[in-house]
Amino acid sequence: MDWGMANRINRIIRPDTGRTLMFAVDHGYFMGPTTGLEKLDETVMPLLPYADSLMLTRGALRYYVTPKIDTPIILRVSGGTSVLNKHMLHEGIVAGIEDAIRLNVAAVAFSIMVGADYERDTLLAFTEVIDMAERYGIPTLAVTAVGKELVRDAKYLGLASRIAAELGARIVKTYYCDGFEKVVESCPVPIIIAGGKKIPEKDALKLTYDALKAGAVGVDMGRNIWQSENPVPMIKAVRGIVHPVSYTHLRAHETEADLVCRLLLE
Ligand code: R5P
Repeated sequence: MDWGMANRINRIIRPDTGRTLMFAVDHGYFMGPTTGLEKLDETVMPLLPYADSLMLTRGALRYYVTPKIDTPIILRVSGGTSVLNKHMLHEGIVAGIEDAIRLNVAAVAFSIMVGADYERDTLLAFTEVIDMAERYGIPTLAVTAVGKELVRDAKYLGLASRIAAELGARIVKTYYCDGFEKVVESCPVPIIIAGGKKIPEKDALKLTYDALKAGAVGVDMGRNIWQSENPVPMIKAVRGIVHPVSYTHLRAHETEADLVCRLLLE
């Protein structure tokens, strides 16, 4: 692997822990002003110190985030449809490699729709992105999106993740499921999990813990952090699971989320 590619991946997946907390705020690309991201900068900035990387669109990056940050950026480059469209899964390429380079990104992210009507289009567009990104040493993150009619089980997610890696993805983002070890075992590149819809904090922390235990290298989490009533303690708790530390010192000051995190680890 060339130096630039290796360096970018090491900026995303921390070499000291081999893990990553990717913070996702890209939802507006198909959901518009999602609850909690209406003023994206106000939501993101207090949470940024606890994130290893930030995943978002080029518009959100330019309009809401100061270039003074040094958090690695994961740029979403697929889209073109919205929640209002019955063909929502028919995404294409919405940002080119030149703009990704201008934005100094650490990786580009693209959604593939394995098993959906538009499977072929999304897979071929993904390979175009891979060819362009590899030329400049930029890793691609495959996002395995799942159509409503498909089941998020180990068989399906294992299939989609493996296809993503075989096409050339450097990192795969998928969903946690029962038997997740099988998904990890059959995928030759690091896997991270999406958080999904907002669930109780304790459940989201357990999801994180279970996914890491099964072999995921981290999470790409959004709503379960920024839609939490206590987003800073929540991201700190997720971080505590992703990059394990001793929790003994937290006892005196720990929040409920810290406590949940400690209890999960003990
Ligand atoms: C999906 O729309 C995006 O790729 C999100 O970045 C991803 O699903 C992670 O966000 P969440 O944890 O809210 O699912």
